[in-house]
Amino acid sequence: MKFTDIFRRVNHRVREARDRMTEKSREAGDRMRSVIDTFSDEWMESAFHRYRQMLAPSPDSLPSDFRLRESSLPRRIYERLFPVDHVFRMSWKYGAPFLEDFMPISPDAFAGRGSYKFVYRLPWRMVLKVSKEILPSDPIFGSMYREVARNPERFLSAEELELLEHLCQRKGSSTKEKLHFKFHRLGMERYHYWRVREALPDLVLPTRFFMGKRYRKHFVTEGFSEKVTPMDSQIMLLGRHLKEFAQAVRPADQNSVARALSPKYDFTFHGERFGRVKKKVLVKIMDDFKRLIRFTQDLALNEKLIYDIHTENIIITLPEFELKIFDFHIFDHHLYAGGGDFERPEREHVEVLERFLESLSGMGGD
Ligand SMILES: Nc1ncnc2c1ncn2[C@@H]1O[C@H](COP(=O)(O)OP(=O)(O)O)[C@@H](O)[C@H]1O
Ligand SMILES: [Mg+2]
Repeated sequence: MKFTDIFRRVNHRVREARDRMTEKSREAGDRMRSVIDTFSDEWMESAFHRYRQMLAPSPDSLPSDFRLRESSLPRRIYERLFPVDHVFRMSWKYGAPFLEDFMPISPDAFAGRGSYKFVYRLPWRMVLKVSKEILPSDPIFGSMYREVARNPERFLSAEELELLEHLCQRKGSSTKEKLHFKFHRLGMERYHYWRVREALPDLVLPTRFFMGKRYRKHFVTEGFSEKVTPMDSQIMLLGRHLKEFAQAVRPADQNSVARALSPKYDFTFHGERFGRVKKKVLVKIMDDFKRLIRFTQDLALNEKLIYDIHTENIIITLPEFELKIFDFHIFDHHLYAGGGDFERPEREHVEVLERFLESLSGMGGD
């Protein structure tokens, strides 16, 4: 083969590869650009309108996990001395910072918490989630966070960016850095939500992510202390965690080192623990679980991203018996430490879901 032929071929391949890459990044760019535009204020308002009119039901109908609700003694004392009182959504309007959406909360309305948020019941049928303080070294801040930090305007609205700029004025570099981190974290939450919602729109709860201001009452002065932090609000789900359907939970067979690092559990489920379920409803929920499993597997295999759907991140609503997703955190595979199997951490979640599916397939219904 002549040298010029080889040169031409190589050249052709390089061009092809370059075109493919450009196409891919454009595709990714288009997808990302739509993140902030997907959830306009009007869309959120219409999704929440009905629930804003409903009084919150008694806490008994909420999924409960007393370990999650229980705080340590120092924390409980702190909450009594400086009780949370209310929050506002912060935005930028009329050329100035603007507070709207008054939401009263109290330590008694604490509904639960995960690793990243404190969740409060609102007086109407919605919940408010206040982000916990976490360090930039936390495993949640992986490639998706970096994408947000590189292109914040795709994940944060123009008003939010104006607000950030305003808050940074006349501040030292470390305060500025902290503020950027908070806003990028907000963008990342929105990005996680968007990824899951694109794939499973009907299973995902409409969620509004916003920069909020939280007020704590001071026990002596009766004044308030305030803090700017990312928050989100969501429809309140009535039902049970997947975990609460477990009939028996026992530690899985693991060696002592693996157990100390990341304990695994074997679940045996009883699908009809909270009442009999109709055949039609069963077929629908099984199909939904299969879609969730497929999404989790594809994300892990194709993008090396781990969707954190453990048994406390899934609620089955009652009496409808529907699967609903309310926590959207996605981790980079190499940063995720939740799973027992470090090679395929998503398998652990998928196996638990499959076991629940098995328990449903054995059920009769009408
Ligand atoms: N929409 C909701 N309705 C009712 N309870 C909720 C809702 N969202 C969260 N919770 C409760 O709060 C807990 C923590 O919420 P989650 O969003 O998972 O926070 P994190 O991101 O910190 O894990 C959940 O396990 C659940 O008990
Ligand atoms: Mg959670």
